[in-house]
Amino acid sequence: MEKNFKRTLVTCALPYANGPVHIGHLAGVYVPADIYVRYLRLRGEEVLYVCGSDEHGVPITIKARQQGCTPQDIVDRYHDIIDKSFKGFGINFDVYGRTSSDVHSKNASEFFRKLYDKGKFVTRESEQYYDPEAKTFLADRYIVGTCPKCGAEGAYGDQCEKCGCTLSPEELINPKSKLSGAEPIKKKTTHWYLPLEQYEQWLREWILEGHKEWRPNVYGQVKSWLDGGLQPRAVTRDLDWGVPVPVEGAEGKVLYVWFDAPIGYISNTIQLLPDSWEKWWKSEDTKLVHFIGKDNIVFHCIVFPSMLKAYGDGFILPENVPANEFLNLEGDKISTSKGWAVWAHEYLQDFPGKEDVLRYVLTANAPETKDNDFSWKDFQTRNNSELVAIFGNFVNRAVVLTHKYFGGKTPAAGELQDIDRETLAQVPVIREAIEKNIEAYKFREALREAMNLARLGNKYISDTEPWKVAKTDMARTATILNVSLQICADLAIAFEPFTPFATERLRRMLDIAPAWDELGKEDIIPEGHELKPAELLFAKIEDAEIDRQLARLDAIRAEREAAAKAEAAKQVAPQKEECTFEDFEKMDIRTATVLEAERVPKTDKLLKLTIDTGIDKRVIVSGIAEYYSPEDMLGKQICILANLKPRTIRGIESHGMILMAKQGDGKMRFITPQEALVNGAQIG
Ligand code: MF3
Ligand code: ZN
Repeated sequence: MEKNFKRTLVTCALPYANGPVHIGHLAGVYVPADIYVRYLRLRGEEVLYVCGSDEHGVPITIKARQQGCTPQDIVDRYHDIIDKSFKGFGINFDVYGRTSSDVHSKNASEFFRKLYDKGKFVTRESEQYYDPEAKTFLADRYIVGTCPKCGAEGAYGDQCEKCGCTLSPEELINPKSKLSGAEPIKKKTTHWYLPLEQYEQWLREWILEGHKEWRPNVYGQVKSWLDGGLQPRAVTRDLDWGVPVPVEGAEGKVLYVWFDAPIGYISNTIQLLPDSWEKWWKSEDTKLVHFIGKDNIVFHCIVFPSMLKAYGDGFILPENVPANEFLNLEGDKISTSKGWAVWAHEYLQDFPGKEDVLRYVLTANAPETKDNDFSWKDFQTRNNSELVAIFGNFVNRAVVLTHKYFGGKTPAAGELQDIDRETLAQVPVIREAIEKNIEAYKFREALREAMNLARLGNKYISDTEPWKVAKTDMARTATILNVSLQICADLAIAFEPFTPFATERLRRMLDIAPAWDELGKEDIIPEGHELKPAELLFAKIEDAEIDRQLARLDAIRAEREAAAKAEAAKQVAPQKEECTFEDFEKMDIRTATVLEAERVPKTDKLLKLTIDTGIDKRVIVSGIAEYYSPEDMLGKQICILANLKPRTIRGIESHGMILMAKQGDGKMRFITPQEALVNGAQIG
């Protein structure tokens, strides 16, 4: 049963300040949250919109080390970039805090201390890898070695990036510390754990029984965690970057980043509203909604709620956690480390004035129920044939014609005809569909409905043709334009959550500031109301702009492939099974010289070589055309296996085989004696 809430607290996952945000972040978390918040505000609801940077965690310390600066330098840099990117897209949080702030440090520290005092933690001693040279415990990411699954070098203590498998540091072959290169040793350490298993029953009741309406992906993940059985979770780490653990005997330990980060939502609220934050976090009248990506589900549905439950003191729990799946880019997984992304701050530079286009496309393709793909071609098409051709075109016709025929004054509607009435009757139906979908966190569907409103207007003005009617019947023209302008005003409302910049231009043109409740009213724009000059709502995106983006991605792909090849080249095949000297002796290997060379017609790979073996002249067909042209081979001294049983290849009988050296990436080179010898010299 829907409860009646008085206000809504919306949080967005705090992005890690170790890199800029990209379209995956925007699509997964921030654009949907922003739609939701803007919608609620248009409805006149009381909303608090909280986010901030997540500034702890090992990847930040690693990046700092790589760049020879402090973790604080790293988070300062990215905090600013991220903050600006959000603003650039019209995502205006009430507070965008930082987990490196004093408010947070104090708040997270007190939070831990309270749980500690209430006896909510258990301690456990375990053996962990320690760097004897750097004299520090090693986070999983700080240990590298050979992957036990695929044999790749440089696998991390928590994951092999080569084969993607999850690892624990103990599994690595030949583990080395990333800090000093030293071989890590095992050392005893004590940590605090939250015994999650104690919350299992409660979580089952709260979520599995009480929140069956949550998205299937979220509900399903929670269920499978609970069915798998919960374990105590360490909430402290041996690290020097983070919130110090505020108890005696915890020197050199900090709160685990996933313990402190969600507390950041509260800290940031406290920072903004030091005196009234509790009404947002401790009142049953507040509806709490966490917007996150799917990799955050366990933390927001299981760990953080258990922390709040353990704390007690009236903290509320989320009413919903609308987590999205992932967005891919041009068919490949977005990856910060591989540079495979469209960065928010770069987009803002490359497409000034087109913030809405990205918001629109990311919503139209939102990965709400499954992973989805972003492609630049689709981006262009959606802009040109939806935003420009339907929404923009309709508004432009209505406003320009009103200026042309009525001096910009909203003409009076006369008696309505069927088409007018039928068109106007659609608006409340669409409005309801938008509301229903947004309230159910189905933003993609809501946007489709909003677009249907633009389609409705565009079809109406195309069907009624006021530019033709104006030649004979100004009264009818007035009615058509009045109806059209009301639909323009409807669009200025309905699209505000989705494309706030365009709707601001539209509101300026129409000179109105309507609230959500006016959507569907038939006189949002009163008769005689004067319009401002027409502005362009959306502009066409040309091929050249898209090609530039695609070229950038192609370059990244090429670079990545080259790096992968270089890596593959280094891979050496394991030794073959033992053979005897007699086995080897059977092979007649000798020198020969290429006399003639030509391509085998209709093949890419084969060369037909006529060679002098010292014994005879013969033909060998060899699959080396990818690596050598006939000219390359002419006159070269090579080594051959002379007594290989003849084989017919493409109708040519081949008498022997050229010896080639082949490396891991497939590159091949023929073998030639270190100085010229007679043909027929035996090798062995
Ligand atoms: N920084 C995390 C991520 O990007 C999200 C943290 S959300 C919070 O995956 F709740 F912990 F703040
Ligand atoms: Zn591997």
